[in-house]
Amino acid sequence: MNKLIIAIDGFAATGKSTQAKRLAKALDYTYVDTGAMYRAVTFFALEQEPKGSVDLKLLCRSLDQIKIHFEGSAGKQQTFLNGVNVSQAIRDPKINEYVSKVAAQEAVRSFLSKQQKALGADKGIVMDGRDIGTVVFPLAECKFFLTATPEVRAKRRHQEQLQAGLQESYDEVLSSVKDRDNQDTNRAFAPLIKAEDAVEIDVSDLTINEVFELLYAQVQKRIN
Ligand code: DC
Repeated sequence: MNKLIIAIDGFAATGKSTQAKRLAKALDYTYVDTGAMYRAVTFFALEQEPKGSVDLKLLCRSLDQIKIHFEGSAGKQQTFLNGVNVSQAIRDPKINEYVSKVAAQEAVRSFLSKQQKALGADKGIVMDGRDIGTVVFPLAECKFFLTATPEVRAKRRHQEQLQAGLQESYDEVLSSVKDRDNQDTNRAFAPLIKAEDAVEIDVSDLTINEVFELLYAQVQKRIN
C-alpha cells in the first residue's frame, strides 16, 4: 500500500499528539512527537545550568552531547535523553516555561529537524509539531493544522495536569498557553504557521472521536 507522510501541526493543547497516535495505530505507521524532542533539549539545558534557568549560548554549543531516541509503540511511546527515560520529566511546567525560548534557537531547530527528516525517510510516519508541514516535510502528502480557542486548550491542559498530580491553576495554564502561542507564532525561524496546503480543523467544539473521523477520512482519500 501507498505509504504517506502525515504532518499534524497546530497550537499547544489542541490534541495533536492524541490524534497522531491514533492515526499511527490505525495505519500501523510510526509516530514521532517532535514537541517531546524540543522538550528533551530543554530538559538538557535546565540540567546544564545549576541556577535553574537556561544558557542558550552554552546549549547551542553543546548540542552534539544530546542523543534523543524513542522506544515503544504509538500508545506508550517513551522519550529517552542520553539513555535516560525523561517522558514524565519533560511534561513539568518548568519545561513549558523555557521550551519556546529553546525552540526559537536556529541551531536547535536545525539539529532536531535533521533528525526528524531522517525518521521520515521511509515514509509511513505520523509526525506532530509546529513546523512539520512547512519546514520538516514541505512535501508531505497529508497535512493538518489544528486550532482551538486558548480557553478550550487551557482547560484541556489543566485537566491533564491535575490527573498527572501537578498543581498549576487554570489561570496559570491559560497564561502559559497564550505565552507559548505568542512565542511560537512570532519567532524568526520556522514560526508556527499553517502550510498553504494543510487542512485546518478548529477542534474547539468537536470530540476526540469527531476530530479523528475527519482526519482519517482525509488520509484515506490520499491513500486511495
Ligand atoms: O507540542 P508541545 O507542546 O509538546 O511542544 C513543546 C514546544 O516545542 C512548543 O511550545 C513549541 C516547540 N515545538 C516547535 O517549535 N516545533 C515543533 N515541531 C514541535 C514543538
